[in-house]
Amino acid sequence: MRPARPGRRGACRNGSGNRRTVDAPRTRHEFRTADARDLGGLADGSVHLVVTSPPYPMIEMWDECFGALDPSIGSALAEGRGDDAFEAMHRMLDRVWRELHRVLADGGIACINVGDATRTLDGSFRLYPNHARVLQACAALGWRSLPAILWRKPTNAPNKFMGSGMLPPGAHVTLEHEYVLVLRKGDKREFPTEAGKRRRRESAFFWEERNAWFSDVWFGLVGTGQELAGVDRRARSGAFPFELAFRLVSMFSVKGDTVLDPFAGTGTTLLAAVGTERNSIGLEVDAGLADVVHTRLLNAGPGLNRFLDERLARHDRFRREREVAGQPLKHLNEPHGMPCMSAQETELRIRRIRTIECAAPGVYAATYV
Ligand SMILES: C[S@@+](CC[C@H](N)C(=O)[O-])C[C@H]1O[C@@H](n2cnc3c(N)ncnc32)[C@H](O)[C@@H]1O
Repeated sequence: MRPARPGRRGACRNGSGNRRTVDAPRTRHEFRTADARDLGGLADGSVHLVVTSPPYPMIEMWDECFGALDPSIGSALAEGRGDDAFEAMHRMLDRVWRELHRVLADGGIACINVGDATRTLDGSFRLYPNHARVLQACAALGWRSLPAILWRKPTNAPNKFMGSGMLPPGAHVTLEHEYVLVLRKGDKREFPTEAGKRRRRESAFFWEERNAWFSDVWFGLVGTGQELAGVDRRARSGAFPFELAFRLVSMFSVKGDTVLDPFAGTGTTLLAAVGTERNSIGLEVDAGLADVVHTRLLNAGPGLNRFLDERLARHDRFRREREVAGQPLKHLNEPHGMPCMSAQETELRIRRIRTIECAAPGVYAATYV
């Protein structure tokens, strides 16, 4: 697989300063224009985590995208054959789930953000259960399903209720959630080496973060600052919130791992990987997004650092609340000199970003303080 062409990006430039130290930690991030159905450029077992969100079958904004890859989809939709279109779109995604299983290392996890679709075709309204179809296909491909996350999205549109108003039984409930399906390749991952164990301990999250992140319903997810939030972009590109990717990368991988997003869009997963000291690879079929990702990555340093600072500040507020409540935290996190709840958090280390540079077309390097 060849790297994405630089397009209008021109010469690679430094996003946030020129200083570099010899032994500063460093991560690598690659964005390629490529079709996710063929991951031929990635070796078997070379990826530790997948965080992704495909185009959603039967959601109109993705009709053109699916139709461009398989013309039979366009005619099925035009002729009102919803089931055929739904199945053809999913057959395309099945190829990606198969490839992801191949490139993941044993014990590696895939987090797939997908929403169901409702649609009226040929005068008939119905639900197209994307999440169930993906789970079914992945089970057949050998994936092991773990408990999924319901992402409750904020919607306050006044016209969100559809159907027969206040008269039963012709109204239907509004979809206000999406799924993050969590699938594993094989058994739980092991960390046999001392270096691996140390990276795992450094990648720990705070006790109170664990309580929120490992709940099966997520709401109120935000980014931080316009350059990370992706709020405007969501309407145009289907970008997920930065914090969604940040949590998933933190929960299911360790520092130094490689995270893959085969439907990278505007590169939110790559940004989350930069912010968590993981390496990343993003694939995206729309060549026009390479410029967006390039600009976003090179300008991400200050926003990411604000997000990381806020993470520590949140923990400090939690620490203070416990003290006020007469329940002080009993352990000490050494790297940050902060009390923490458990012995597992004592080596947790959050490194601020020093530089994000473009090392070659489509290839970026981040260094840390
Ligand atoms: C839901 S969006 C992902 C948005 C992304 N999570 C973000 O935060 O920007 C799905 C993306 O998949 C891309 N896509 C669709 N089919 C693809 C394929 N076969 N290979 C690679 N990318 C594809 C679309 O162009 C779109 O950008």
